[in-house]
Amino acid sequence: MLPIDLRSDTVTRPSAGMRAAMAAADVGDDVYGEDPTVNALQARVATLVGKPAALFVPSGSMANQTCIKAHTSPGDDVLCGDGAHVMLYESGAAGALSGVQLTVVGQGGLFDAEGCEAAFKPDNHHHAPTRLVCLENTHNRGGGRVWPRAQLAGVVEWARRRGLRLHLDGARLWNAHVATGVPLAELAAPFDSVSVCLSKGLGAPVGSLLCGDVAFVHRAHRIRKMLGGGMRQAGVLAAAGLFALDHNLARLGDDHARAKLLAERLSAAGAGLPYGAETNIVIFDLSGPAAPFVEASRAAGVLVNAVGPSRVRAVTHLDVDRDAVTRAAEVLAGLLPR
Ligand SMILES: Cc1ncc(COP(=O)(O)O)c(C=O)c1O
Repeated sequence: MLPIDLRSDTVTRPSAGMRAAMAAADVGDDVYGEDPTVNALQARVATLVGKPAALFVPSGSMANQTCIKAHTSPGDDVLCGDGAHVMLYESGAAGALSGVQLTVVGQGGLFDAEGCEAAFKPDNHHHAPTRLVCLENTHNRGGGRVWPRAQLAGVVEWARRRGLRLHLDGARLWNAHVATGVPLAELAAPFDSVSVCLSKGLGAPVGSLLCGDVAFVHRAHRIRKMLGGGMRQAGVLAAAGLFALDHNLARLGDDHARAKLLAERLSAAGAGLPYGAETNIVIFDLSGPAAPFVEASRAAGVLVNAVGPSRVRAVTHLDVDRDAVTRAAEVLAGLLPR
């Protein structure tokens, strides 16, 4: 029997319908701006996110790093949350490609205006001046948490008062939207740039978009080319994204309900749940080490990831149905160290 793979929502495989849409895609050379399917996807996502323009890129990391580069100059300082993807999981790209220094604020991914003010560096000869604040919504290492609105508004108000730019890593902004019912455009409105991913909960094999105003996306377009992200008949990939928006957005609520079910079972069996289970990510703490637990889970047919010495992450997604999650919950609960 195939294992139940809860390592990430990136492990999904394109469905037959998605593959058919990809095969049928109308394509052209996107480096010439002539791929009608890419253009349609960019227009659709820009509208959804409420920004004037969007640009298709291969990955969420490229979307984030292109935005960071477009907002900053070498020697600048960028604030981000504890465990932010842009800091922890993008191979040091902010330092290597943009030459910026990242300063971590807050704990568990969220932070507030007070923390930002304490970390802020003014523009004088001693400091790397703070130019940009990056938020992540939902927060991956923060257990898929959605930023509380008032807290986010406080950070935005502070950043504007300080004259800073704001970038949103919205790889899972779709989940925040479905969990809260707040329109995507409203969640994205405070930010100068937003990245969204099609290859997480939406189930596309590849693809992210960065969104912003026309001048920003023009600048980002050049940076994408520099980074080798100019693609040719990319409509084959964009078609998967359009299919995902049509078929896989509204159903994210199912993933959230399944994550809740898993979290409740684990909590009842003694696991610690530092962040609850607001969306599709369940982070849980063990009373013993994570590595042997992950190995034993694998042997029992359930794949999860260790994300700390005694911390484990399980993610629900469109390739695991309610029965599979229920079975996985039993296996994981049975293996918890006592
Ligand atoms: C919050 C967040 N941002 C960005 C990314 C990067 O996406 P990609 O793997 O497509 O580079 C991920 C990937 O898991 C993520 O979780």
